[in-house]
Amino acid sequence: MTIIVTGGAGFIGSNFIFHMMKKYPDYRIVCLDSLTYAGNLSTLKSVMDKENFRFVKMDICDREAVYKLFEEEKPNIIVNFAAESHVDRSIENPGIFLETNIMGTAVLMDACRKYGIDRFHQVSTDEVYGDLPLDRPDLLFTENTPIHTSSPYSSSKAAADLLVLAYHRTFGLPVSISRCSNNYGPYQFPEKLIPLMIANALADKELPVYGEGLNVRDWLYVEDHCKAIDLILHKGKVGEVYNIGGHNEMRNIDIVTLICDALNKPTSLIKHVTDRKGHDMRYAIDPTKIHNELGWLPETKFADGIKLTIQWYLDNKEWWETIISGEYQNYYKEMYENR
Ligand code: NAD
Ligand code: TYD
Repeated sequence: MTIIVTGGAGFIGSNFIFHMMKKYPDYRIVCLDSLTYAGNLSTLKSVMDKENFRFVKMDICDREAVYKLFEEEKPNIIVNFAAESHVDRSIENPGIFLETNIMGTAVLMDACRKYGIDRFHQVSTDEVYGDLPLDRPDLLFTENTPIHTSSPYSSSKAAADLLVLAYHRTFGLPVSISRCSNNYGPYQFPEKLIPLMIANALADKELPVYGEGLNVRDWLYVEDHCKAIDLILHKGKVGEVYNIGGHNEMRNIDIVTLICDALNKPTSLIKHVTDRKGHDMRYAIDPTKIHNELGWLPETKFADGIKLTIQWYLDNKEWWETIISGEYQNYYKEMYENR
C-alpha cells in the first residue's frame, strides 16, 4: 500500500503522517509538499530517515512533475492536505488560493485518472458551509447544509469540493471528502489563533482579538481528525462527504482567556482590534453521519487537548521561534500594526 500525502509538511498533514506510520508500519508514505511558508521540513525530522517514507518537494500545480511521481510510485491512495489555509491571507491575496486549492486539486485528480488509484481523499473544511447565527444553538452543519462561503479561502475549498464530486460523477473517480471543524495541536503554524496567542503570551506581547471576540469555533484535537480520515480511507464509502467535529463550540475570547490563565499571564494583554472582513460568526459540526456509519468519536476532550498543546509549544520553542523569526515578522507587521 502506497499513500501519497500532499501538504504533509504542514500542520494536519504531518500529524496524519505520524499517525499512519505508527499504525501501519508496512505502508509506504510519500509526502509531496512544495514547502511554502506554512511547510516545514523540520516537522518531519522523526520520519525522514525511515525506509518506508519519502519526501518530495513538489508543487501540486506542476502537472508534469506530479504525473512523473505517480508513474514512479504507483500510489493506491492520495490524501490531499496541500492548500493555502489561512483566511486572513486569502483576504489579502486570493489568487494563490485559487491556484493551489482549485487548480492543484484538479491536477492531482487528473493524475489519478491517468494512472488509476483506489481512492482520492480531499481534506476539506466546515467553512464551505458559511456560518451560523449565535442565537440559534440548535443549528449545526450537516453534510446536506448548502455550500455558502464567505472568504476567498472557503470559496476556493468549496470549488475544489465541487470539482472532486464532479470527477466522481463524470469520470467515476473513487473519491471521498471530509469537512472538519477547526483543529488545534502540535505543529500548527503560529499565524492561527491558538498558537499565535500562546507565542504572543509567552513573549508578553499583545493578544489581538478580532472585534469583540464573540465568534464561535468548534475545536477538535488534530489527532482525532487524523483518525477520522484514516477511518474514511479504510471504511468510508466512495462518493461520500463526511463531516468531522467533536461538539466543542467555544468563543474566541474564552480561548484567549484560557491561554492567559494556563500561562499565568494577565488578560490585560488582550487587545480588541479591527474585525476580520466578512468574519464568520459561528461554526458547528453535526458529526452524526461519521459516528453512525464508521463508529468515529473524538477521543481527546478540549480540557486535555489544550493542556497538551500548550505544553507542546513550551517544550518545542525552537520549532516555532525559528519560524516566527523569519518572513513571519513582515507578515505580522502588515497584518497587525495599525489594526
Ligand atoms: P497548513 O497551512 O499548516 O499546511 C499546508 C501545507 O500544504 C504546507 O506544508 C504547505 O507547504 C503545503 N502546500 C501549500 N501549497 C502547496 C502546493 N501548491 N503544492 C504542494 N504543497 C503545498 O494547513 P493545515 O492547517 O495543515 O490544513 C491542511 C488541510 O486541512 C487544508 O486543506 C485545510 O483546508 C484543511 N483544514 C484545516 C483545518 C484547520 O483547522 N487547520 C480545518 C479543516 C480543514
Ligand atoms: P483562525 O485560527 O484564523 O481560523 P479560522 O478563521 O479558519 O476559523 O481563527 C480562529 C478565530 O480566531 C477566528 O474567529 C478569527 C479569530 N482570530 C483572532 O481573533 N485573532 C487573531 O489574531 C487570529 C489569527 C484569529
